[in-house]
Amino acid sequence: MKILAFETTCDETSAAVLDGRVLRSNSVFSQIKLHRKYSGVVPELASRAHLEKMPFVLGSALGGAGIKLPLKPGAVDAVAFSRGPGLPGALMVGRVAAEAAAELAAAPLIGVSHLEGHLLACEFENGRASRPLDFPLAALIVSGGHTELWHARGYGDYRVLGRTRDDAAGEAFDKVAKLLGLPYPGGPEVEKEAAKARGKIHDFPRPFMAGTRDFSFSGLKTSVSYYLAGRLGQDFYKRGLRLPPAARAMVCRAFQNAVVETLVKKTADAARSLGLRRIAIGGGVSGNGALRAAFSRLEGFEVRFSEKAYCSDNAAMIALCALRRLETGRFRNSLRVAPELSVPGW
Ligand code: KG4
Ligand code: ZN
Repeated sequence: MKILAFETTCDETSAAVLDGRVLRSNSVFSQIKLHRKYSGVVPELASRAHLEKMPFVLGSALGGAGIKLPLKPGAVDAVAFSRGPGLPGALMVGRVAAEAAAELAAAPLIGVSHLEGHLLACEFENGRASRPLDFPLAALIVSGGHTELWHARGYGDYRVLGRTRDDAAGEAFDKVAKLLGLPYPGGPEVEKEAAKARGKIHDFPRPFMAGTRDFSFSGLKTSVSYYLAGRLGQDFYKRGLRLPPAARAMVCRAFQNAVVETLVKKTADAARSLGLRRIAIGGGVSGNGALRAAFSRLEGFEVRFSEKAYCSDNAAMIALCALRRLETGRFRNSLRVAPELSVPGW
């Protein structure tokens, strides 16, 4: 079973070929450099860049899998793509590429949830989908656009327990990085800075929000902004005033501590209340070392993460979602039925 997959939800253009459980190729072009000068993703530029890079990314993914262009009928057994959630123009590029490939290969077309992709990315190990998830489990998806907590009962059987009411965890990292004068994407930069912090660490409030499993990170970001205004004066951002390195590192550590503690506590509380012993974490923010360490310290849970290479957006995870769906013979939310982008299950 060979699956060709496309991923274009945000600022990574990616194509991959999964052959049974073996990942033959996973070609990713990151648009980070393009968006960096705007401190965030510019949707129109992202769509154009997907369009421009897709032929090369696809060529490299097919080449890596020993598949020749033009695609011939039977060259692959299925074609998958991220049907959302994501930027509408960017999604369209992946979808059109997938439709064309499916037509040429005379293969079925399967649209999958990008967020499910982040969860199933945990199954890859050394280029093979060799570590199937054990269900049921609590799944935490933390990316630039989403913070979602699911009760995952099996492949395609996901119930949303909570999600962010405002900023996603990754978005909060990106915005705080911007306030501190660090480049986009902010997550890895904040993590690097936090590691340099020494001495007493300021305590930002933890947005636990009692009584709900939802998340909220915009208040935390505002706390950071007030703290900076207190140190540097109102209008500090406009006036180009930034903290000296040691203070900046301390703010990064304090902010990261607050996000990590909130994600770990809310996930563990939800898992405990449902009697779940397993937790799986995916998405760009799950590459954060402090978050991984804090989850690993949790007692009484078996915790899984994606390998770091598969935390951020990639088409390998999209191919794997399609494989799991084909294996279980379920297509409910594929292209054959109008996609419900906000519903994570099939
Ligand atoms: O999953 P992803 O690659 O794309 C989306 O689906 O959004 O996630 C990107 C997000 C960005 O906000 C980025 O700052 C964040 O993940 N991120 C991190 C780290 N690496 C990436 N956040 C915290 N720590 C990191 N090491
Ligand atoms: Zn993503």
